[in-house]
Amino acid sequence: MTTAIGSPVSRKDGTLKITGQARYAADHPIKNVTHAVALMSTIARGRISSIDSAAAEKAPGFLAIIHHGNAPKLYRSTNDFMSATKPGEVRVVFEDDRVYYAGQYVAVVVAETLQQAQFAASLVKIKYEALPPVVEIENATSTLYDPAEFFGDKLTYNRGDPESAFQSSAVKHEATYTTPSEHHNPMEPSASIAEWSGDELTLYETTQWVVGARNTVAEILGMPQENIHIVSPFIGGGFGCKGFIWPHSVLSAIAAKKVGRPVKLNLTRKQMFSAVGHRSETIQKISLGADAGGRLNALLHDTTVYTSIVDEFVEACGATIKQMYSCPNVLIAHHAARLNIGTPTPMRAPGENHGLYAFESAMDELAYKLKMDPVELRVVNHAGKNEHTNQPFSSKYLKECYQVAGDKFGWAKRNPEPRSMRDGKLLVGMGMATATYPGMRSPGAARVRILQDGSATVASATQDMGGGTYTTMAQVVADVTGIPIERIHSDLGDSHLPPAPVSGGSMTTASVLPAVKKAAQEALKKLVQAAIADEKSSLHGRKEDEVSASNGRVFAKGSSPESGVSYGAVLKVQKLAAVEGEGTLNPGEERQKYAFQSFGAQFVEVKVDPEIARVTVSRVSSAFDVGRIINLKTARSQAYSGVIMGIGMALMEHTIYDQRDGSIVNSNLADYAVPVNADIHSIDISFIDKPDPYIDDVGIGARVVGEITVTGLAAALANAVYHATGKRIRELPITPDKLLKLAVE
Ligand code: MOS
Repeated sequence: MTTAIGSPVSRKDGTLKITGQARYAADHPIKNVTHAVALMSTIARGRISSIDSAAAEKAPGFLAIIHHGNAPKLYRSTNDFMSATKPGEVRVVFEDDRVYYAGQYVAVVVAETLQQAQFAASLVKIKYEALPPVVEIENATSTLYDPAEFFGDKLTYNRGDPESAFQSSAVKHEATYTTPSEHHNPMEPSASIAEWSGDELTLYETTQWVVGARNTVAEILGMPQENIHIVSPFIGGGFGCKGFIWPHSVLSAIAAKKVGRPVKLNLTRKQMFSAVGHRSETIQKISLGADAGGRLNALLHDTTVYTSIVDEFVEACGATIKQMYSCPNVLIAHHAARLNIGTPTPMRAPGENHGLYAFESAMDELAYKLKMDPVELRVVNHAGKNEHTNQPFSSKYLKECYQVAGDKFGWAKRNPEPRSMRDGKLLVGMGMATATYPGMRSPGAARVRILQDGSATVASATQDMGGGTYTTMAQVVADVTGIPIERIHSDLGDSHLPPAPVSGGSMTTASVLPAVKKAAQEALKKLVQAAIADEKSSLHGRKEDEVSASNGRVFAKGSSPESGVSYGAVLKVQKLAAVEGEGTLNPGEERQKYAFQSFGAQFVEVKVDPEIARVTVSRVSSAFDVGRIINLKTARSQAYSGVIMGIGMALMEHTIYDQRDGSIVNSNLADYAVPVNADIHSIDISFIDKPDPYIDDVGIGARVVGEITVTGLAAALANAVYHATGKRIRELPITPDKLLKLAVE
C-alpha cells in the first residue's frame, strides 16, 4: 500500500506553472475577444452629475460604454453565505448616480483592443457633485453602531461578571492596540472574461468559489444558475479578495451582452485597491485581570472597526478570543463606523489575525507585570475545553506546540530583561505568541473515475489558489486505489463539477478530501462488482466483502494482490470505459459534540539596529497542531507564506487614505510595501501531525493549515521588538519612525 498522504509530494501543477502553460483567468485564448476598461470614481462621496462620452465614441475601435444611465437592470442578490449568493458588496454596480467611495465603478468602456479601450476611456468626461468624505473612524463616531453577527456568530458576548472581576483583580493590564487598513495584493489581479452563447454565459474567472460565483452572478443578472458556467482552473493567490463576487464579473457579462462578443476585463493594480475589498483598520481595547499566580480572572476585548456605507463587513477581532484561554469572566464587544471607503472583506484570517496581534501583545505585557515567563503564563491559562460553547476540543496539542517550537527556537536561552541581549551593536529580542484558527468544514462532493488504461481522474468544483488542492486530491485517490499519483488527473475550478465550498476559511482540505476518499472507495466497489460479474474470473460469484480492490488490482480477500487482476483488465473484460464513484460528505453531529479548533505557537527573534531603528526578523520557529498533514511540502509552503505575511503586517503593510478626497495614497506595490526575499531569513516550521479523530468519519483527519499560520506572528514579532528595545509599539506597522524615539546608547 502506498502512502501518498503525508509525504512531501511535489505539486501536480508545478510544471504547468513554471512553463507558463497554466491558464489564469485573463490568459484564456478566446476568439473574437474585445477589451473593457473600467472607470473609477475620483470622488469619495456625492453624485455623478454628467457623463460625456461623445469624444470616446468617436475613438478608434470604440464599441460601447456602460454606466448608471444606460445599464441593464441588475438585481441585488439574496446575500446569503449559506446559499452561496453573497457578493463582496450588496449594492449592485451602476445602481444609481450615487458615489459612496473613491474607486467605485462609474463606467466601463469596451473597444477592439486594450489600448483602444484605454484611449477611449481617457476621453470620457465625468462630472461630479462632491461632498466632503469621511474616511477616518475618529470623524465618524456619530455613525458607530454594534453590528449583530459575523457569519452567524454573535459579535457581543459575555460570561461571568467581567467588569467587577477586572476591578478586583490582583494584577491588571489595560491598553489599546491599533492596526491600519490593509490590502490583499495577490500576484494575479482579478480578471473576468465573459462569453455568451445564446442565453448561456461562460465566465473565465479568478475566484476562490466557483459555485458562489455562479449562484451570485445568476441572481444579479436575473438568470437561472444552470445557464452560467464558471471556469477558474488557476488562481494567482486570493487571500480572501477573490472569495466573493465583485462587480468586474458582472461588468464583463453585461458588456459582452451589449457588444455581442466576448469581453475581457482585467483590473489594474490600482483598481485592486478599491474594487475587491480589503481589511479595515482596527482599534482594540483590552483589559486583562489576573491573580498573583497569573491565572486570568477577567478578559475584556472591545473592538472598533469601520465598514462601508453600502454594506456591512466587520473585522471580528474578538470572535476567537472567547475560547483561547481559561477565564471565568469574559466580555467581547464590537463596534463599527460607516466610512466613505469600499466594503471590507475577509483577508487572511479575518478577525483572528488582528485580534491575536492585540490580545497576544496584551498577554506579553501582563507576563511582564507578573514577572512571569510568557510561555508559562499561557500554559497556566490553558483551556481544557472551549469555555464559550462548553464543548471539549476534538483534539488539542497546544502545549506540544509551545514545547516543539520553543525548543527548536532556543527559548530557554532568553534573558527576559528587555534590552539585555545583543549581537554586536544590534539589540536582540525574542518574543512568542499563541496561534489559533477555527477548524471549519462545509459540505463537499467529488467524483472519481478509474479508467481502462489503469489511470484515474478526480473532480470537484473546488479551487486551488496555490495551496495544493490539485495534488492533495490525487494523493487521496492514490492511497485508496494504489494507482500511482502521476497517473491520477485532478480536475477542479469548474462550476459544472460536483459542488464544493468556498476556498476560504481554510476549509478546502477538510471539506473536499473526505468526499474524494468516499468517491474513490465507491469507484473501487463498482470495480469489485464488475469483477464478480465476470463469468471467466476466478472471483466470479463471490460476495463483495470477500473481494478486495487495492494496489491497482482486484483479488480475493486474504490472498496477495498479484493473485488477482488489474483494474484495467476488469474494465476491459466488462467492456467498460470506466467505473465512477461519487462522494458527498456533510458535517454532522460531531459539530454539536466537539469544538474544532487549530492551535500553534510562533517564536520570533528580531535584531534591531538602535541607530537607525531597523528591525530585521532573524529567525522564526513555529509549530502548528492542524490535524493530519496531507502533504508536508505544500503545508510547509502555506506556513512559510503565513509567517511572511505576518512579518509584512507587523513591519510594513499600511493603506493610507487621503482625508481630502478619500483616495488611496499608496495604491501600488512600490508604496504599499510587502516583504521581499531580502526581508526574510530563517523560518523553521513544525507540525504536530496528529489526525483529528472527529472532523470527518472517513479517517482523513485534516483540520486547517492556511490561515492559522499568520495568526499570532505579528504579536510574537511586536513582543520581540519590546524585548529587544524596551519599547512597546501598540500601533502597527512597527516602522522606524515609531522606534526612532529610542535613545542611542
Ligand atoms: Mo481566506 S480570508 O478565508 O480567503
